[in-house]
Amino acid sequence: MDIKKVAVIGAGTMGNGIAHVFALNSYNVQLIDQDNLLLTNALSTIKKNLDRQLAKNIITEEQKNTTLKNITTKIGYEAIDYDTDFIIEAIYENKESKLFLFKGLEKIIKKESIFASNTSSISITELSRVCRPDRFIGMHFMNPVPVMKLVEIIRGYSTSEQTFNITKELAVSLNKEPVEVHDYPGFISNRILMPMINEAIFALYEGVATAKDIDTVMRLGMNHPMGPLTLADFIGLDVCLSIMEVLYNGFNDSKYRPCPLLKKMVAANKLGRKTGEGFFKYD
Ligand code: NAI
Repeated sequence: MDIKKVAVIGAGTMGNGIAHVFALNSYNVQLIDQDNLLLTNALSTIKKNLDRQLAKNIITEEQKNTTLKNITTKIGYEAIDYDTDFIIEAIYENKESKLFLFKGLEKIIKKESIFASNTSSISITELSRVCRPDRFIGMHFMNPVPVMKLVEIIRGYSTSEQTFNITKELAVSLNKEPVEVHDYPGFISNRILMPMINEAIFALYEGVATAKDIDTVMRLGMNHPMGPLTLADFIGLDVCLSIMEVLYNGFNDSKYRPCPLLKKMVAANKLGRKTGEGFFKYD
């Protein structure tokens, strides 16, 4: 199956990055969100990130212009083209919202389309139940998408070999490095990363050290490019909390309990960069 027409649903942190890399690699991309302002913001982020790539000589002026031309914005998933070959969902990390979306898409799209979710942690097998499970797969990009090479490709229980191979080839065509993962809570990346971030939040909560010093230990002591609390702010504390809840419920193991401080900060809407404040403050 030749993938030509792609749709990215959800134009937030991840969705705009995913649309960026598909469009840069000559795919025709429909970028879909709930209202016009969100789409305008997403396009200006894509433009800013393309300008950054241009300044670093990673792309040419012509590639920048073609990339922007390859993206069409649409409001609401109902506006998607019937003949879309590959759909990537990047809406909120909420199982009910994702199920509602896939159920709706299933009714209005050609039956050969492949559905992929960029979920950080929700079971691909569970999401696939409301559509055609053999044509459903996890395609988990890393943030920031235009920069990070890794894509976890997650096989649901019923994902077909053909769907897996098409998705893997697609990731390679985007200049990414795909890794095959089976469908268990948190896959690989978040099963290892999130408990580390959660432990850093516990260290702060217990007063072991300041946020800045906890990050310094991991940067200078472990050679991590950024500290875990800075990374949590970057990912979004709401996303971190929902991943911890998926790990906690999925494994029924108290070692994955989310730190009370993380819960409190999410309740206070201190979500990190996207709200201007998390463990650190942002302009
Ligand atoms: P975000 O909150 O930045 O963006 C979500 C976007 O989806 C918003 O613009 C929202 O308006 C839109 N949306 C929500 N419901 C919609 C619907 N029914 N139809 C159309 N648009 C809808 O979220 P973010 O961070 O981009 O996360 C998206 C997904 O990617 C989540 O599943 C998350 O777990 C996953 N992810 C996030 C990473 C991160 O670092 N933030 C890393 C890897 C995966």
